[in-house]
Amino acid sequence: MNRETFYITTPIYYPSDKLHIGHSYTTIAADTISRFKRMKGFDVKFLTGTDEHGQKIQRKAEEEGTTPKEYVDHIVEGIKKLWETLDISNDQFIRTTDEFHKEAVKKIFKKLYDQGDIYKSHYEGWYCTPCESFWTEAQLKDGKCPDCERNVELTEEEAYFFKMSKYQDRLMKHIEDHPDFIQPQKIKNEMINNFLKPGLEDLCVSRTSFSWGVPVDFDPGHVVYVWIDALSNYITALGYLSDNDEEYKKYWPADVHLVGKDIARFHTIIWPTMLMALDIPLPKKVFGHGWILLQGGKMSKSKGNVVDPVILTQKYGVDAIRYYVLRELPFGSDGIYSEDNLINRINSDLANDLGNLISRTVAMVDKYFNGQLPGKQESGEFDDDLISLALETPIKAEKYIDNLQFSNALVEIWKLVSRTNKYIDETTPWILAKEEEKKSRLATVLYNLLESIRFISILITPFMPNTPKAIWEQIGIEEGDITTWDSLEEFGQYPITSKVQKGKVIFPRIDIEEGERPKKKQKEKKVEEKNQEEYITIEDFAKIDFRTAKVLKAEKVEGADKLIKMQLEMGNEIRQVVSGIAQFYSPEELVGKNLIVVANLKPIKIRGEESKGMILAASKGKKLTLVTIEEDMDSGTKIS
Ligand code: ME8
Ligand code: MG
Repeated sequence: MNRETFYITTPIYYPSDKLHIGHSYTTIAADTISRFKRMKGFDVKFLTGTDEHGQKIQRKAEEEGTTPKEYVDHIVEGIKKLWETLDISNDQFIRTTDEFHKEAVKKIFKKLYDQGDIYKSHYEGWYCTPCESFWTEAQLKDGKCPDCERNVELTEEEAYFFKMSKYQDRLMKHIEDHPDFIQPQKIKNEMINNFLKPGLEDLCVSRTSFSWGVPVDFDPGHVVYVWIDALSNYITALGYLSDNDEEYKKYWPADVHLVGKDIARFHTIIWPTMLMALDIPLPKKVFGHGWILLQGGKMSKSKGNVVDPVILTQKYGVDAIRYYVLRELPFGSDGIYSEDNLINRINSDLANDLGNLISRTVAMVDKYFNGQLPGKQESGEFDDDLISLALETPIKAEKYIDNLQFSNALVEIWKLVSRTNKYIDETTPWILAKEEEKKSRLATVLYNLLESIRFISILITPFMPNTPKAIWEQIGIEEGDITTWDSLEEFGQYPITSKVQKGKVIFPRIDIEEGERPKKKQKEKKVEEKNQEEYITIEDFAKIDFRTAKVLKAEKVEGADKLIKMQLEMGNEIRQVVSGIAQFYSPEELVGKNLIVVANLKPIKIRGEESKGMILAASKGKKLTLVTIEEDMDSGTKIS
């Protein structure tokens, strides 16, 4: 039987920076969907690897007084170990220094050259070494790399160019015809507006000023641009242009390239145009996820020690770390990492909600029935509610996982965890246990609890591959037909022959007071405190009462040429606000506008006129524009 295939890739990582918890996100996410797809019966190919060529690596090696290959070999070993530690189930690990990869890249370059899509010319422009990225003068932001805001270097050399501009219209059409190709929408818009609409330029695809790369075999002295080399890994790994391209035939086009938003441009513009030139199909989806940030900014090597994933797993366990990153990074946006946050999640979601549910249930079955239930006997109130949620949850979770919304999937699963805990409170088994004639009801309640736990254990399997086994041991079942994703179609498969077995606490609480937390050095702490000042908490934000308001009336304030006095409708209330916008708006223009007001600002008097609130405007130099709302909303609507 031919099973449906599913091919997913992560970016291949640079072995130049120490990998931190942010990098782990991509790989954990790809692993989760791979595990899920395997459970669903797909023939999965999950690829990850390392991107080992380029100027950046060559320089690092020189700094360390070693050869690039020696430099990367050592780090790549560490990266492989990291993925083992995090229980990453990749089917292949590709290194761009692998011979088969280099051979295929040479062939790709030659093919494009032979067909006239690559031509020789001269490059003059800017280069960002950390990003390994070319920029024109106009693209720079204040003279720096527009992506990472670091310094760029003026580069002038003989070089080959790829006719990317030729594919501009075809790419635009492909994006229009395949609405799911670039996700999320925000990134798609950015690519269209910032790169496609202004027009694609031909891309410089070789370098001569250093040697650490795949050589252009027909022109010694040139090495292939590292991004052309790197992107090709997604097909060279499958044997493209090699003697054995069975996997290429089987798995290409990829179902998902999972990438961080910083490298979405390479995957949605350069890569698709390369594939068009090679005349092979484009990947079905490129998904650009957000970043895990540290309070005070992006993670970097210098901050690496606080976010070293190996250390974190040693302290908190692999599954807890996997749960945390997937739960914390919301779909399509950035998340903020802090160790306190991590500890809170472990204590509340894992130790308290999930862990207690299991230990309470197992303890009750043990105490009231000696570990083995007589089966379902007497149904009662609350059963249907629990059962229907249990049956709905896999369907919802599945949809979210398929759309790479891991955080939302976990939210759905935890709704079932909470519902099951609530079921204990509603049915009060400890009271039922007091009367002999309630024993049959008690048996059903405990059965439903064990069955819900079975559901939860299966639902979390793709996210937390180790925890389910620990749960199954305690509820007395073994991996098999009743632990498959398909088994979630029916509630009531927990076998009554099973016997529970009290075991270790699955997620022990982390006690912050007892010094589980690493002691921070004084200096580090100061830096952190300073960084924290740049943020407000959600509670701080919630203190501000933003409301929509409609301008009913507006007039100039006598004797003050900058001020306008407005009567604003905010729901049932009409209030007066004075604002210094007379130079930018006439009173007539203002009437009817839907503005945003800080409604709970302390009232003040301006030129004898009361002002109750402040309207929002964007202003810079001689320009000012009011913040209005896009669609007509009832005035007085709260903004959050
Ligand atoms: O870009 N949060 O490699 P890389 C979330 N070699 N994701 C993060 C992150 C953070 N704090 N920091 C980094 C490269 N990442 C190229 C890829 S693919 C053909 C070549 C993500 O090691 C980042 O967004 O710099 C990217 O997707 C991945 O880690 C690898 O970054
Ligand atoms: Mg990067």
